[in-house]
Amino acid sequence: MKIVKVKSYEEMSSVVADLIIAEVNANPKTVLGLATGSTPVGVYKLIAEAYKKGEVDFSQVTTVNLDEYCGLSSDNPQSYRYYMNENLFKHINVNKANIHIPDGAASDPFAEAERYESLIESLGGIDLQLLGMGHNGHIAFIEPGGELPAKTHQARLTEQTIKANSRFFKESEEVPVSAISMGIKTIMNAGKIIFAVNGNQKCEVLKKALFGPVTTMIPASVLQMHNNAVTVTDCLN
Ligand code: F6R
Repeated sequence: MKIVKVKSYEEMSSVVADLIIAEVNANPKTVLGLATGSTPVGVYKLIAEAYKKGEVDFSQVTTVNLDEYCGLSSDNPQSYRYYMNENLFKHINVNKANIHIPDGAASDPFAEAERYESLIESLGGIDLQLLGMGHNGHIAFIEPGGELPAKTHQARLTEQTIKANSRFFKESEEVPVSAISMGIKTIMNAGKIIFAVNGNQKCEVLKKALFGPVTTMIPASVLQMHNNAVTVTDCLN
């Protein structure tokens, strides 16, 4: 695992945006795995700015998002599809047909998870996956526990994740309790991984994930076994 130490959220965003832009410029047909949440907001802003300046072209890029809440339709402002449209897609020239996010409103989440996993396989896998980390060490919605689901699946969110994500909702009861999420194998099969983590509250868990034993109790620790992953963080100053 390569580690890039940064001093601030702004610097993390800039390093990560540059890595993504360089990847797309080197391979215009990149299959780009994307994340939501607070962490990548600055990254997406910088990517949109670079696109406006003509520094990067997304016309041939395909995107696959890590996860989506169950029970939220794509026009729900709390859905990850809505977030992606607002923060990135509407600002760049990615072809709508090439945008993929699990369908949180699917009547059969199991079938939807299978469809999504097959879709990623049919794209030839993910070239570059962007990841954030939850306070409990989760990546995507792969939560700590006795085992880690390998493939895209319906994930039950832990109390800690529901609590952390309630900041985006008016009432904590509105936070969905499950999501469709890529699995650990789906993610580990990505050619490259960028793991972006910022903020004091995550630093203890991050240190365990990077330098401690690989354990299902800290799903991010599995990333230690990826042979082309980079962590970009302000936690290690
Ligand atoms: C989001 C995702 C999550 C987040 C993580 C950190 O698509 O898969 O694993 O990356 O919960 O969220 P923030 O960045 O909001 O702290």
